[in-house]
Amino acid sequence: MKDIKEIGEPVYSSGLENIYFSETKLSYIDGENGRLYYMGIPIEELANNSTFEETAYLMLYQKLPTLSELEEFTKKLKENRDIPEILLKEEELIPKNAHPMDVLRTIVSFVGMLDENAMSKKEDEIVEKSIKLTAILPTITAYFHRLRNNLEIVRPDPNLNHAGNFLYMLRGEKPSDIEIDIFDKTLILYIEHGMNASTFSAIITASTQSDIYSAIVSAIGTLKGPLHGGANEEAMKMLFEIDRNYNGDVEAYLKDKISKKERIMGFGHRVYKAYDPRARILKDLALKLADFTNNRKWVDMQIELEEKAGPILGEKKIYPNVDYYAASIYYMLGIPFDLYTSIFAIARVVGWCAHVLEYWKIGGRLLRPREKYVGELNIPYLNIEQRR
Ligand code: CMC
Repeated sequence: MKDIKEIGEPVYSSGLENIYFSETKLSYIDGENGRLYYMGIPIEELANNSTFEETAYLMLYQKLPTLSELEEFTKKLKENRDIPEILLKEEELIPKNAHPMDVLRTIVSFVGMLDENAMSKKEDEIVEKSIKLTAILPTITAYFHRLRNNLEIVRPDPNLNHAGNFLYMLRGEKPSDIEIDIFDKTLILYIEHGMNASTFSAIITASTQSDIYSAIVSAIGTLKGPLHGGANEEAMKMLFEIDRNYNGDVEAYLKDKISKKERIMGFGHRVYKAYDPRARILKDLALKLADFTNNRKWVDMQIELEEKAGPILGEKKIYPNVDYYAASIYYMLGIPFDLYTSIFAIARVVGWCAHVLEYWKIGGRLLRPREKYVGELNIPYLNIEQRR
């Protein structure tokens, strides 16, 4: 790979589009053909055959686990699910109207502060910290949701898998197998996605040799934005807006937004110039869940919007992305809008940790891009009385 020292003149790329700064084996996005691979395995195969736990192992250890490795990994995840009392107390103090992503960012920061060994760069210790982070993000989210609704917290259930346990802690009742299965698949699809903005944030922090918790806090803050992970929450709000303010008239909504040059949430991607393969899988899952819940209203609205948007946005190679159908799936699972991005984080924490691990392992350099200076030079300094 070319080193910057060999390049000479800096390369200018608005939004860092199409820039490589490192190498990875974790995932590959073939944006032209709408294909995605984790460790070389097509995403469709993982969504069909794997589980969140197994795919998380695949990312953190860069190989599929044997049966005993998977059992050991799953056991560790379960053992690490609950949070220390001091964190629960902290969560009780948080204002009930706080955004769950802000809560996640705050509590993960607290977790890092409690770890006296936070700065360790030993590979096995980073893996252990990654497992701990993966295990507690659902708990932090579910506890806060129960607390803000004045409900008793529900402790993790070791008999349930990662996906089922989160739904159980959130709702207080055991979810059905089909709900667990569909939710599990959404987590697999959210686990990893190359050098997206939040992973990049994590890597920038990690590149300074800071600690993994700080890297994850950086990533959570970045994921929150509506152009990134916040889009799943916005996509569901959009469907409600169509229903309430446009009387369900998808075409009127679309015309209105396009004429105002506003974005359709859950559409478009920096890398995919074809249909996002995750959206294709999620669309099928949304239809399955709609049949199960006997309510096709939202998914039908989405399909209509996709069809009507096709001729307009398709010209610019803008198609539904992962957040589009994830939104209606989470809604049908009875999850409030403002938790959707936290769910994205609950899954993506694996990708963040895997990238930090990999970057440290390959001795990744300090990340330090440049901005092209466009101001004037040699401007004389004016005393304050001389300024206007
Ligand atoms: N609806 C309407 N127009 C769009 C959209 C959209 N969702 N996305 C891009 N465009 C248009 C944009 O207006 C611009 O048009 P023009 O050239 O006429 O000015 C053109 O497409 C290029 O847009 P861009 O902002 O330069 O493209 P980008 O690569 O920087 O943006 C994006 C990628 C994801 C930020 C953008 O597509 C977007 O804002 N989508 C909506 C938010 C969303 O769904 N985000 C989730 C992304 S996938 C999950 C994740 O990784 O977080």
